[in-house]
Amino acid sequence: MNDILKKFDKAGIGIRQRKEIALSTKSYLDNILAQIAKNRAVEHPFLNHYRTHMLTKSQERRLYCECFYFFRYLPFYIAGMANNTTDERILREISFNVTDEVGRDPTHSTLYRQFMEDIDISYENIENYKPLDVTLRLNQGIRKLYTDSPIICSLGALYADETMSTIMVGKLNDGLINQGYDESVRHFWQLHINLEVGHSNSIFNAVAPYVDSDEYKYRQEFELGVYEFLQLVEDFWDGVGELIAKT
Ligand SMILES: [Fe+2]
Repeated sequence: MNDILKKFDKAGIGIRQRKEIALSTKSYLDNILAQIAKNRAVEHPFLNHYRTHMLTKSQERRLYCECFYFFRYLPFYIAGMANNTTDERILREISFNVTDEVGRDPTHSTLYRQFMEDIDISYENIENYKPLDVTLRLNQGIRKLYTDSPIICSLGALYADETMSTIMVGKLNDGLINQGYDESVRHFWQLHINLEVGHSNSIFNAVAPYVDSDEYKYRQEFELGVYEFLQLVEDFWDGVGELIAKT
């Protein structure tokens, strides 16, 4: 577990760094991060299996179409968080996150579409694909957590999201290597391995002033967001794992 914490404490050049904060607050947020990293949503049997086991073309198509409907519009939902705060420190961290997604061309959603094309998933495939109910529930659940919840709860969900993503993109990237795809095909995933560390650190910075040791009320709200988010993701991978097993 120390290895995972090192990633966030010593982020590389060009990646958002953590700010210096009180030791007790840091150890609280580090402990939550460690809990996220070992949660079944992150250490999911399907994801771990995929790292070293090939999928057929049709299984692969289902996996990455489900991911498409999982990720769709997330930067818009993150931007929506700004409506629920007047704290510029939070607005700044949200802005960095959204700028990474859409601040330059090609945007990350364009890169994801490009990746899908590279593995022979066409625009028509995506449009005609009917995602699982758990996937729609996940996407809409995230929208609700980010745009229609108290801001500290939203930050909890986003802390879980970015920390989870750091690990998830690494596992999906391993699976793609195992499938035999070269670096140019895996660009979207490779790019995100470090980027998500920076995004997680951004949330660490934004929420730190609210969860210092005197603010237990905020900690409860923050953790509610963390665990609601993880439950949605766990249900998603259960559903995707099941779908792929019977494809
Ligand atoms: Fe991204």
